[in-house]
Amino acid sequence: MKIFLVGYMGCGKSTKAKQLAHRLVCPVIDLDAEIVNKSGKTIAEFFEAYGENGFRAYESEMLKTYNYPETCVVATGGGLPCFFDNMDWMNAHGETVYLEMEPSQLVSRLHNRQKRPLIKDLNDEQLLEFIKLKLEERNAFYRRSKIVINAFDLDAERLEEAIRNAEGRAANK
Ligand code: S3P
Repeated sequence: MKIFLVGYMGCGKSTKAKQLAHRLVCPVIDLDAEIVNKSGKTIAEFFEAYGENGFRAYESEMLKTYNYPETCVVATGGGLPCFFDNMDWMNAHGETVYLEMEPSQLVSRLHNRQKRPLIKDLNDEQLLEFIKLKLEERNAFYRRSKIVINAFDLDAERLEEAIRNAEGRAANK
C-alpha cells in the first residue's frame, strides 16, 4: 500500500510521513527532496530557472514515474494535487490523506519561508490572506483525498488508525 500525504505548505506532511513510515516499518519518500536530488537544484532554484510551469511539469512527471516500493509513505509538495490529473493518479495508485489545518495555524508554522518561493516575500498578515485565498482553490483538490483528517496536534498513531479504518471500510464495501 502506498500512502500519499497531501496538504498545504506547513501542515506537516514531511514530518508525519517520516513518523508514519517508522510505525509501518516501510520507506518514506519525499517528492520535493527527490526533485532536488534528481535536478540538482533546490526548489527555489528550480522555480527561478524554469518558472512555476516548468516546476509543475517536472513534479507531475516525478510523481508518476518514481519507482515506488510496494509499501511506502509519500510526502507530496503542497501544490502537487492541484495540477494536471495528479489527484486522480494518486487516488488510483494508493491511499490519499489530506492533512487539513486552519490558515492561522499554517502561518504560525511557516517561519522559514526562504526555501518556499511562492511565499518567501510575504509578512505574516499577507501570508494569512494568501493562504486563505489559496486554500479556497486548493481545497477542491485536497478534499478529493480518500481520508481527510485535522492535522493540528495529530500524532502518527491516530493517523495510522484513520488509514486502517478507511481501509477496513473500503474492504467491507
Ligand atoms: C509548493 C509547496 C512546496 C514546494 C513548492 C510549491 C506549493 O512543498 O513543492 O515550493 O505550491 O504549495 P511543501 O508543501 O512541502 O512546502
